[in-house]
Amino acid sequence: MVIAIDGPAASGKGTLARRLARRFGLAHLDTGLLYRATVARLLHDGGDPTKEALAVAAASRLEIADLEAPELRDEEITRWASVVAAQRAVRLALLDFQRDFAMLPPGGAGGAVLDGRDIGTVVLPDADIKLFVTASAEVRAERRFRELRDRGVGSIRSLVLHEIRERDERDRHREVAPLKRAEDAFLLDTTDMSASVAFDAACQLIISRPVKTA
Ligand code: CDP
Repeated sequence: MVIAIDGPAASGKGTLARRLARRFGLAHLDTGLLYRATVARLLHDGGDPTKEALAVAAASRLEIADLEAPELRDEEITRWASVVAAQRAVRLALLDFQRDFAMLPPGGAGGAVLDGRDIGTVVLPDADIKLFVTASAEVRAERRFRELRDRGVGSIRSLVLHEIRERDERDRHREVAPLKRAEDAFLLDTTDMSASVAFDAACQLIISRPVKTA
């Protein structure tokens, strides 16, 4: 079983993907980490993230272990990730990594959950289940603010909201693989939903889905 989850920043797609992976025994790939790790590698080597050739070289050298670096959630990396993610050649360089993960999940898992921005539209258009998770920008900003606070990172609510809106804008309006709902994706608006209600709703959708033939 392959599940594709897309949605804007801090919509709750990562939490949902992790829980679904655990519940159904699937491997999980947070594809945002690929763009973040590409930036981390670039910055570490003193490269300029706006230079496409350098970003492609960094993306091509990524390994699974690079996705575990704790600094990937840092603000600077977060900001640059959506800039690098708008580069066509970078996205292309990361495509096989994502498709291989879904087709041959690590650890012998029986399938995979991938979450990101273009999983249902570009990376895995034939996924068994597609979910598009969203919530109002204000609610998403509040969630991100609390997440940062829990990690001991000081931030200002209004700035978090501003950063989320700026990133949404870039992700939705870029030319290549923009954030959008696939036609056959279930919409899950979590504005007024807790993480566990969203999880239960997604489980229901998965369990009751029509089984694909051939
Ligand atoms: O956790 P959050 O939703 O804030 O961000 P993320 O999922 O880690 O993604 C970071 C950035 O990578 C996004 O703002 C997108 O620009 C980019 N991204 C993408 O373009 N395509 C994906 N499949 C995943 C992330």
